[in-house]
Amino acid sequence: MTLIDGKKLSNKIEDEISKEVESLKPKGIVPGLAVILVGDDPASHTYVSMKEKSCKKVGFYSIVHKMPDTITQDEIIETIEMMNNNPRIDGILVQLPLPKHIDTTKILEVIDPKKDVDGFHPYNMGRLVEGLDAFAPCTPLGVMEMFKEYKIDLEGKDICVVGASNIVGKPMAALLLNANATVTVTHIYTKDLSSHTKKADIVIVGVGVPSLIKEDMVKDEAIVIDIGINKLESGKLVGDADFETLSKKCSYITPVPGGVGPMTIAMLLKNTLKAAQRRVK
Ligand code: GUN
Repeated sequence: MTLIDGKKLSNKIEDEISKEVESLKPKGIVPGLAVILVGDDPASHTYVSMKEKSCKKVGFYSIVHKMPDTITQDEIIETIEMMNNNPRIDGILVQLPLPKHIDTTKILEVIDPKKDVDGFHPYNMGRLVEGLDAFAPCTPLGVMEMFKEYKIDLEGKDICVVGASNIVGKPMAALLLNANATVTVTHIYTKDLSSHTKKADIVIVGVGVPSLIKEDMVKDEAIVIDIGINKLESGKLVGDADFETLSKKCSYITPVPGGVGPMTIAMLLKNTLKAAQRRVK
């Protein structure tokens, strides 16, 4: 079994990004990321501070705009419009989830698609599905980067994506389809999950259910990519796959923590760098 080390790969990518940042300096360009964080969800605060720290590490300019959960939708929209017009900002990210009184779709559609480094705007989603150049959502993009690094060929492979969210499952399926894989997407209405996972060469799971994927649900030598991050009552972090038993059966597997998680942030930096490099042109 080979462990897919997301921490190591993300460090390598961040080093490459730092070098690119240095080469942009003489051109007067410092990549800039703006993050909007609404409310006091502890997980969102943790994610945003990790993103901020990574920006500093690679030499990006970054701002975090914190807003109370009593904020109105129009006030958020005004802030985004200001960021759209700010030439120092290359990427804009609205940390999700937003409070219930805010229409998330409306908010995401206000972000300039050229600054949509999270890849959540329908313009980028549409282009992604069409196989055109687009900002792709960072978590599925990080998974693709892992396949590339570990030379895992996707062409013609049977891949089961467990979970059909807009952030993970749907863009993951589009990226895999663009790489010529045969993709099955399962979700909470799927009648018999294991009948699909058992047939797959690769299982990619991101649903937020601890140990949903068990050893008897995959074939011998399967590849398991675990996007889940769940905090147990004991405080332990676990994924959506039962790592202990699966690691004995799989050819490749990602750990949690230290797997897909760090790759998500590395891809956010990569997307922001890509947006900044367009300033040169
Ligand atoms: N909430 C959970 N995952 C994400 C993500 O990748 N981006 C944003 N903006 N919010 C999230």
